[in-house]
Amino acid sequence: MAAVHYAGVSHRYPGAESLAVDTLELDITDGEFIVLVGPSGCGKSTSLRMLAGLESVESGHIDIDGVDVTSLAPRERDVAMVFQNYALYPNMTVGDNMGFALRNAGMNKADTAVRVLEAARMLELEPLLDRKPGKLSGGQRQRVAMGRAIVRQPKVFCMDEPLSNLDAKLRVSTRAQIAGLQKRLGTTTVYVTHDQVEAMTMGDRVAVLKDGKLQQIASPRELYDNPVNTFVAGFIGSPGMNLVDAPVVDGAAVVGGVRIPAPTQEARVTVGVRSESWDLVGNGVGSVSVAVELIEELGAESFLYGAPPLGSDWTIRNGRLAVRVDRKLAIGLAETVHLVPKLDEVFFFSASTGERL
Ligand SMILES: Nc1ncnc2c1ncn2[C@@H]1O[C@H](COP(=O)(O)OP(=O)(O)OP(=O)(O)O)[C@@H](O)[C@H]1O
Ligand SMILES: [Mg+2]
Repeated sequence: MAAVHYAGVSHRYPGAESLAVDTLELDITDGEFIVLVGPSGCGKSTSLRMLAGLESVESGHIDIDGVDVTSLAPRERDVAMVFQNYALYPNMTVGDNMGFALRNAGMNKADTAVRVLEAARMLELEPLLDRKPGKLSGGQRQRVAMGRAIVRQPKVFCMDEPLSNLDAKLRVSTRAQIAGLQKRLGTTTVYVTHDQVEAMTMGDRVAVLKDGKLQQIASPRELYDNPVNTFVAGFIGSPGMNLVDAPVVDGAAVVGGVRIPAPTQEARVTVGVRSESWDLVGNGVGSVSVAVELIEELGAESFLYGAPPLGSDWTIRNGRLAVRVDRKLAIGLAETVHLVPKLDEVFFFSASTGERL
């Protein structure tokens, strides 16, 4: 078990103009499950691989339990990595795959067998210990890869998209298993995913990255309730927050027929409204009118998507306006709906910088 500190850590790939990871500052407490999330290319894997010792650190340093490990080789860091492609040895049994690193490190056969059995029980792999990986399902292979990391009893687990080879349903059940297992073991874990739902359901805290820069690190609830900028607001949530650019007139943002007092001196402001923060009203006076272009029926609820009417002076930054409605409301395509945002659930961001106001 261990605390991990990224102290202003940067990485640049050879020949690249910009930093892949830019002065990353992260304090991870002992036993915490931290998820790094962000779009493709934002620097998640690079950040993780620097902790495991698989990429160099250009500036800054990384501490594990107060010890600077920046210049240590991977095997000297006591970090176990679980990759997206599990890279199991095909000719070895499940048990030998799991025990390989221990035997390699000089542990005797009997002690190794105890550790492997213990991990196999935790992962419900005991009946499969004598099988070869080729005869396992994707989910079972994934658990063997986990087992290989667990038997080492490392200070830190590093996991890079370990569920991305599983189908959607298995991914959901496996993510709950991994989160539960991590809590039982209490091992500090840094977990990388591009899937914000996975991040929000698994992490004690979630670090959102963009272009190599940390945008925000917070609990899932805090990220949802208090995004620091338009990027985090639009990235977190399914769908992400609606981001409406609107003119400011006499101290109020004007979105269609709705006026919302806005804390800005600028000529325009970005108004953030979650899809569940709209009320449907009966007519167009004092509301935002939107023609429904797409309907998503998800069972208990539906999402309507629409665009501003032609010639509007308000625009939507991230696609169409999304509105969550009760499925009992029968609303059809091309129908116009009239919306009023719940005023105490509205967010404001600078239209020029994207920062929360
Ligand atoms: N071996 C490499 N050589 C050069 N540039 C690289 C290399 N690996 C990654 N990069 C670049 O560094 C940046 C960060 O890459 P990284 O792999 O950390 O992103 P990521 O967030 O893990 O993305 P993904 O979700 O696609 O896995 C990207 O711009 C990428 O193109
Ligand atoms: Mg990656």
